[in-house]
Amino acid sequence: MHSTLRALLLALPLSFSGLALAQDAPASAPIEITEKSFKCIREMTKVRGFFVDNIAGNLEGTLKVANSPTGGVYPPGSVVQLFPNEVMVKREAGFSPVTRDWEFFELDVSKDGSTIRKRGFADVKNRFGGNCFACHVQAKPEWDMICEKGHGCEKLPISGFAVTSLQNADARCDNKEMPLRHRFTDWMIRVFTPL
Ligand code: HEC
Repeated sequence: MHSTLRALLLALPLSFSGLALAQDAPASAPIEITEKSFKCIREMTKVRGFFVDNIAGNLEGTLKVANSPTGGVYPPGSVVQLFPNEVMVKREAGFSPVTRDWEFFELDVSKDGSTIRKRGFADVKNRFGGNCFACHVQAKPEWDMICEKGHGCEKLPISGFAVTSLQNADARCDNKEMPLRHRFTDWMIRVFTPL
């Protein structure tokens, strides 16, 4: 009897720490990002003009920050896109303090899926030689490097219409339903936009 009680008392704090560990596990689990992590931009969740997802299963947390009028820190696993081939993914806390744990990606997209052209932190450039970090770091701190409009970044030389057309023309999406007129406009924009 005595020893059972002692075993119970010993086991109690252990099971509590076990619980605490189990609760910590999802947040600290490494986030694996491969070309399979990316998909048709329009299958992500639209927030104003851009799209979000969360590859760690916490879309709710990502949407909470994206929709907050006062900003915040995006949770690990957040995926953010404006163009089909440029992506920001939030890594584990402390992974890359300089970029506030954002990893930048430049993809090639085709009807067969995505391939990663470049990935990294402060040194990734898009195909026009623009450094992702150098622009996105201009956003005021409360916006966690998300530029949008009015967050402090220099504006992109591209119209809202062209952005929407590029989103509509994502080759990974099932674009068969798109009217010919739209497909032609998208093609014109892709060919003649210097971005
Ligand atoms: C010339 C500066 C510049 C460069 C270079 C640049 N961006 Fe951006 N990016 C912006 C601006 C400004 C916006 C907001 C555009 C808007 O909503 O009108 C933006 C939007 C985005 C968004 C949507 C969320 C947001 O911040 O509004 C993502 C994701 C993104 N860029 C990723 C990248 C990645 C990845 C690279 C590099 C491969 C990159 N960008 C290079 C300036 C830049």
